[in-house]
Amino acid sequence: MQSKDHWDRVYSTKATDAVSWFQTHADISFDIIKATGVACDAAIIDVGGGASVLVDDLLDHGYSNLTVLDISAAALTAAQKRLGSRASRVKWIEADITRANFPAKQFDVWHDRAVFHFLTNPEDRAAYVRAVFNSVKPGGHVIVATFAENGPDQCSGLPVMRYSTDGLHAEFGESFSLLDHRTEAHHTPSGTVQQFIYCYCRKAGS
Ligand SMILES: C[S@@+](CC[C@H](N)C(=O)[O-])C[C@H]1O[C@@H](n2cnc3c(N)ncnc32)[C@H](O)[C@@H]1O
Repeated sequence: MQSKDHWDRVYSTKATDAVSWFQTHADISFDIIKATGVACDAAIIDVGGGASVLVDDLLDHGYSNLTVLDISAAALTAAQKRLGSRASRVKWIEADITRANFPAKQFDVWHDRAVFHFLTNPEDRAAYVRAVFNSVKPGGHVIVATFAENGPDQCSGLPVMRYSTDGLHAEFGESFSLLDHRTEAHHTPSGTVQQFIYCYCRKAGS
């Protein structure tokens, strides 16, 4: 099954608060975004945002230049329905991040929780890193969360890569400085615990 079909099926058959990655609030993501110090009109993209409530929380706190990208139209529709009329304040992109074409130097903040770790093919990871490098402004902020080395080896029935902080940073290379990292013991709706790491990097330049 193609990745898009997989994800559309997931979001069409499961409640958004029943999927293993569900969070009532994306607290760590939000805290790191806030700590970047970017202005409320900074261009922020949530890559593979799915039906995450991060976008709701960012809108609630006055962030106004938000993009959510996901491979699954069903995921984006679920997020839009939840937001109601506020959905029109967000830019929605249905795309595979390994093939997405963004204008250069577009984003101040790139956020991804639990998407990069699905890229088990080195060419897909290289395409992803190229997209970050090209579309994030010099001095921009990159926040990527994946399963930790002691996290699960699958997510949504698909194999995933697991990373240490240094290993994840190394995927992005010397153009990105590692400024902070966090760990998360994520409690899934079914009661299991999944270990995540979050890397916060800054792209070179000013
Ligand atoms: C585990 S979920 C995480 C969703 C969200 N980031 C969160 O933390 O709640 C992974 C998400 O990545 C999306 N996805 C998977 N592969 C993708 C790709 N190649 N390009 C864009 N989105 C992708 C899926 O549709 C799904 O919404």
